[in-house]
Amino acid sequence: MNRRSFLLSAGGAVAHPLLSSLAPKSVLRAAAQSPAKSDASRAAVDHTLTIQPCTLDISPGVSVRTIGYNGQVPGPMLRLRQGKPVSIDVINKTDHEEIVHWHGLAIDSQNDGAMEEGSPMIPAGGRHRYTFTPNPAGTRWYHTHAGAGADLSRSTYTGQFGFLLVEGANDPGHYDQEVFLAIHHWEPSFVPMAETMQAMSANHPANPGSDVGYKYATINQHRLGAGEPIRVKQGQKVLMRLLNASATENVVLALPGHTFRVVALDGNPVPNPKEVEVISLAVAERVDAIVEMNTPGVWVLGSTLEKARQMGLGIVVEYAGKSGPPVWRDPKSATWDYAQFANNTPAAKPDESVPLAFIDLGPQGDSKFDTWSINGQSWPKIDPIKVQKGKRYRLVMQNASNDQHPMHLHRHKFEVAAIGDSNISGLKKDTINVMPLETVAVDFVADNPGDTLFHCHMQLHMDFGFMQLIQYAG
Ligand code: C2O
Ligand code: CU
Repeated sequence: MNRRSFLLSAGGAVAHPLLSSLAPKSVLRAAAQSPAKSDASRAAVDHTLTIQPCTLDISPGVSVRTIGYNGQVPGPMLRLRQGKPVSIDVINKTDHEEIVHWHGLAIDSQNDGAMEEGSPMIPAGGRHRYTFTPNPAGTRWYHTHAGAGADLSRSTYTGQFGFLLVEGANDPGHYDQEVFLAIHHWEPSFVPMAETMQAMSANHPANPGSDVGYKYATINQHRLGAGEPIRVKQGQKVLMRLLNASATENVVLALPGHTFRVVALDGNPVPNPKEVEVISLAVAERVDAIVEMNTPGVWVLGSTLEKARQMGLGIVVEYAGKSGPPVWRDPKSATWDYAQFANNTPAAKPDESVPLAFIDLGPQGDSKFDTWSINGQSWPKIDPIKVQKGKRYRLVMQNASNDQHPMHLHRHKFEVAAIGDSNISGLKKDTINVMPLETVAVDFVADNPGDTLFHCHMQLHMDFGFMQLIQYAG
């Protein structure tokens, strides 16, 4: 019996509501096909996502009005087969242009879902079909790639995100139960920088954060304490697939009494799986971790920051036969080091190194937002990085600012070559958090011709200059 059928047949072991999206794949298919039975080409579609307004009841008496896929947040879980072509129709039922990006997939520029690479915007009321072959295997996700600018009711501030799992050769090891946990923050507003600085100071003394603040946070569709807990049994191994789908907030999580065995970062198996007490998830990052359930009780899996837990950033883990209020305990330390999951040998030598300095230019003109630059240039007035097919490039990112920047490379994965002074290898990611005043080097092989976007994933940063294109020669 494979794991999936185990999950489906185990009934009670399928704890989380999101897991019900394992079963309804056939339902999704049926839904996708029914509106267009007469249209042969539409009948061939594998999935349909409808972008539409929806209201979420995130905790008793608290609801948020947002935009999501198919009326649910997170959007439907897309389980795709590695190497098997897929077509996904997207219907835009909003009054503005939209676009969907398939984050972490090595696909073509037209279907990748970034306007800057040449993918089309979907007009208000329009429909668009994406077709691609999912690769590589692992925990990926999809989300809107529209700009928001100063409009906090748009783009990744909304509920437009979902898991996309590419099933293939990756084997995370034995587990009994699989849960998908996506983090999001709600009701954004502009706040003075000092306020976020204070909130963040417990864990990130050097980081003032962004100047967007939030009222609520959720894991999947509920705030901490609302909705169903993750129900576990003593001795079970639970595979947690964690995603930070927040527009701008990096988070650190812990589960008191337990450790996380990190097996994959951004969906890619790590060379050196390790047990850690806390998990850091910068915006857009994924962590796959196996938790052995060996401390019976009722616990809070949540942010290490009390203020964030009060906003709702957590979910209850409940052992069978246990009851009572969920317990939180601060972890001994909240530090995170990517290098511990890597090989401590240097990565292969690149053909070329590209130095990239991240500089905060401050507010430009009458803008009230800081403009961000790479080597002094800001999107859209920024020269592309030119690459040649087959060569290996090292992006040497020097963060000359006081903010954290989760840097994302589209259509390629990169190998982390250095975090500060430690030279490492084997760690493959598509997003990496560059801490204030830190230097991080990542290598990628130019193996997927077509325009490629490289940007900070903080919505407020990418909307205000922090993007650059990589272009293939010839
Ligand atoms: Cu997850 Cu350019 O995005
Ligand atoms: Cu940034």
